[in-house]
Amino acid sequence: MKTVNIGIIGGGLMGREAASAFGRWFALNDFPVKAELTSVCDLNENVLAWYKNVPTVTQLTTDYKELLANPSVDVVYVAVPHNLHLELYLEVLRAGKDLLAEKPFGIDLEAANAIKAEADKTGRFVRCSSEFPFLPGVQRVISEVKSGNLGRIIEVKAGFLHSSDMDFNKPINWKRQTKYCGEIGVMGDLGMHVLHVPLRLGWKPELVFAQLQKIVTERPDGKGGVAPCDTWNNAILNTQVTIAGETVPMTLETKRLAPGETNTWYIEVYGTEGGVRYSTKDTKALWQFKMGREQQWQRTDLGFAGVPFPTVTGGIFEIGFPDCFMQMLAAYVAEREGALGERFGCATPEEAVESHKVFAAALESAKTKSVVRIGNLETQPA
Ligand SMILES: NC(=O)c1ccc[n+]([C@@H]2O[C@H](COP(=O)([O-])OP(=O)(O)OC[C@H]3O[C@@H](n4cnc5c(N)ncnc54)[C@H](O)[C@@H]3O)[C@@H](O)[C@H]2O)c1
Repeated sequence: MKTVNIGIIGGGLMGREAASAFGRWFALNDFPVKAELTSVCDLNENVLAWYKNVPTVTQLTTDYKELLANPSVDVVYVAVPHNLHLELYLEVLRAGKDLLAEKPFGIDLEAANAIKAEADKTGRFVRCSSEFPFLPGVQRVISEVKSGNLGRIIEVKAGFLHSSDMDFNKPINWKRQTKYCGEIGVMGDLGMHVLHVPLRLGWKPELVFAQLQKIVTERPDGKGGVAPCDTWNNAILNTQVTIAGETVPMTLETKRLAPGETNTWYIEVYGTEGGVRYSTKDTKALWQFKMGREQQWQRTDLGFAGVPFPTVTGGIFEIGFPDCFMQMLAAYVAEREGALGERFGCATPEEAVESHKVFAAALESAKTKSVVRIGNLETQPA
């Protein structure tokens, strides 16, 4: 069986998550390609030390150029702060490697456009991380929408809600500082996750009115003092999309201060004939509504069956974050091999750029307190 060698640049939270998924690749049933994590780069020696426990890793380095010079590395997953995306992604592509980029795919729209342009120029296989669509519940939402069962779609809501920032004593980190995270703040952190499914269904926001909030403006600096926390904490984007020739409101929420929410990703789609909704808050539950004499929702308890790439895990067992992350990696590797078939694929550079257009327009909307046309940043009368 063919083996694809993987390198990771940025071995922190998400680097370790990827290592854990590659480490149990054998759990994928009849998967056509073996993926093996062989090389890891991180500036921090303590972070690198963890990877000594990963038996397939043969290269540990603090210099990403050394990893990129390794001819045996085929694909590089880059999981570093957003201010480094542009430089590192371009270097990966120029080294002749394929790239699994982390979101938001550059710190801003300009960076995202430059990364996409380099991907086009080099012809390398590039996708952007976004794992939630690979949950069976989300797959069912997508097929329900495509089935036409919902009738005329009249409203869409999607969001990603965190609450760890509700702890006001949590020390500052790079994700809460504009110079590392980007001016788009929480939208850059969570927005690609929220937009992936709508964009794939062809629901491209045309207008946006954004309500952005800076709720916590300083945090402990971890050294006994305080540091400015200057990113947008919460964002509610009221957007307009065209679905089957009709104008439809689509609300997109990304929040770091959402009381009561740990890591809640959700989507709800309502039509004249029915509705469908799914939330990771209740991972097994798919909710479907069909127009009848009474207003009645039906709950289906979903199991593991329904993942795009079957594994050894029994069909009735529950799915979790590590599983959908592994499914996303499987989709990346399968698509790179031309073996994706009809299955859902990872977010494309085009989709990542589209998400940045929405975020850039949202910033403009918040600044001008007006409705902004996405793409050309034109303001419209509210
Ligand atoms: N897909 C998801 O669900 C998800 C979740 C969290 C974060 N992310 C994204 O993943 C990326 C990384 O986030 P994280 O939470 O893993 O951050 P993290 O801070 O835990 O890890 C980042 C790592 O990058 C290393 N690093 C920094 N500069 C480097 C350089 N020049 N060369 C090599 N290593 C370097 C740091 O030492 C650190 O270990 C971001 O783009 C973030 O938005 C994605």
